[in-house]
Amino acid sequence: MTEMRPVTDQATDATPVKTLALPDAQTVTFVKHWTDRLFSFRVTRPASLRFRSGEFVMIGLMGDPDPKTGKQKPLLRAYSIASPSWDEELEFYSIKVQDGPLTSKLQHIAVGDEIILRPKPVGTLVHDALLPGKRIWFFATGTGFAPFASLLREPQTYEDYDEVIITHTCRQVGELTYGAELIESLKTDEMLNELIGEGFWKKIKYYPTTTREESPKMGRITDLMRSGEAFADLGVPQINPADDRAMVCGNLAFNLEIKDMLEGYGLVEGANSNPQHYVVEKAFLD
Ligand SMILES: Cc1cc2nc3c(=O)[nH]c(=O)nc-3n(C[C@H](O)[C@H](O)[C@H](O)COP(=O)(O)OP(=O)(O)OC[C@H]3O[C@@H](n4cnc5c(N)ncnc54)[C@H](O)[C@@H]3O)c2cc1C
Ligand SMILES: NC(=O)c1ccc[n+]([C@@H]2O[C@H](COP(=O)([O-])OP(=O)(O)OC[C@H]3O[C@@H](n4cnc5c(N)ncnc54)[C@H](OP(=O)(O)O)[C@@H]3O)[C@@H](O)[C@H]2O)c1
Repeated sequence: MTEMRPVTDQATDATPVKTLALPDAQTVTFVKHWTDRLFSFRVTRPASLRFRSGEFVMIGLMGDPDPKTGKQKPLLRAYSIASPSWDEELEFYSIKVQDGPLTSKLQHIAVGDEIILRPKPVGTLVHDALLPGKRIWFFATGTGFAPFASLLREPQTYEDYDEVIITHTCRQVGELTYGAELIESLKTDEMLNELIGEGFWKKIKYYPTTTREESPKMGRITDLMRSGEAFADLGVPQINPADDRAMVCGNLAFNLEIKDMLEGYGLVEGANSNPQHYVVEKAFLD
C-alpha cells in the first residue's frame, strides 16, 4: 500500500507542473500488478473533484488514430474509485482483458504516464442511499471489490454501523490479494486509526471465498448464505431488514442472484433519491 494523506490545499498546489497534453489528463503516480489479470494504480486528483466514497468515474486513454482522418478520440470506461473521498490521490483497481479496447493498453501504464479522467462522479453505492442500520454488508465478486476499497477507508462507514461485513468471491486465490492486503493494512494505518478512531478495523468481518482454486473457504457466497454456512461462520443472524444494510457489486448474474436473496430476506432496494435497505452496481457490463 502507498501512504495515504488527506486532501489539502497544499497537496493541490503540489500537483505536477508539467504541461498535460490530454483533455482531463491526470498523471499516474503508482502501479502494482497483482496477477496476470489484475492491477491497481493511483493518479493525481483534479483539484475540483469531489466525490462520495463508492462512486465511479469515466477514465481512459486516447484511442488509435482514425485511419482516414488521423484524428484520435478518447476511449473511456466506467471505473469505481477505489480510494476514499478524503485521499489526495485517486486509486483504481483494474482487470486486464487481453483483447479489451481499453485494458489491453491501460495494463501497460507506468508512473509518469497520463490517463484521461472525466471529473463527473456518479453511482448508487453510497451511504446516502441507505437507511440507518446496525450492520452493513459489502458483497463483491472480482473487481467489484473496488468501490468497497473506498468505503472500507471511509469514516462514515464506521460512524453509521456497528459491524462491517465484506464478502469477496473470486475464482482464484491470487484474485483476493488486493482486498486482503488492503484490509490487513487498515490495522496498522496510523492516520486512519486517528481519523476514524483507534481500533476501528475491529468492526470489519472479512469473508473471502474462492470457487475454482482450493482456499480456506470454498464456494459462491450466494450458496454459502443459502445453506446458512456464511452466517454461522460470521457469527451473525440471517440478514433482516431491521438490522442489515447491503451494497452489492459484481457480475450481472451475481447481482441478480444476491438481489433476489436480499428481497427474500425482506430488504428493499434503495437509491440516492429514496434511501432503503440495499443498493446494487454492476462491476462490468456484459
Ligand atoms: C459502473 C461500472 C464500474 C466499473 N468499475 C470497474 C473497476 O473498478 N475496475 C475494472 O476493472 N472494471 C470496471 N468496470 C468495467 C470497465 O468499465 C471496463 O469494462 C473494463 O475496464 C474493460 O474495458 P475494455 O475496454 O478493456 O473491455 P470491454 O470491451 O469494456 O470489456 C470486454 C469484456 O471483458 C469482460 N470484463 C470487462 N470488465 C471486467 C471486469 N472488471 N472484470 C471481469 N471481466 C470484465 C466482460 O466480459 C466484457 O464484455 C466497471 C463497469 C461499470 C459499468
Ligand atoms: N478469473 C479468471 O481466471 C479468468 C480467466 C480468463 C478469463 N476470464 C473471463 O473473464 C470474465 C470475468 O471473469 P472473473 O473471474 O473476473 O469474474 P466472474 O466470472 O464474474 O467470477 C467472479 C466470481 O464470481 C462468482 N460468481 C459468478 N456468478 C455468480 C453468481 N450468480 N452468484 C455467486 N457468485 C457468482 C464466480 O464463481 P464461479 O467460478 O462458480 O463462476 C467467481 O468466483 C469471464 O468472462 C471469464 O470467462 C476469467
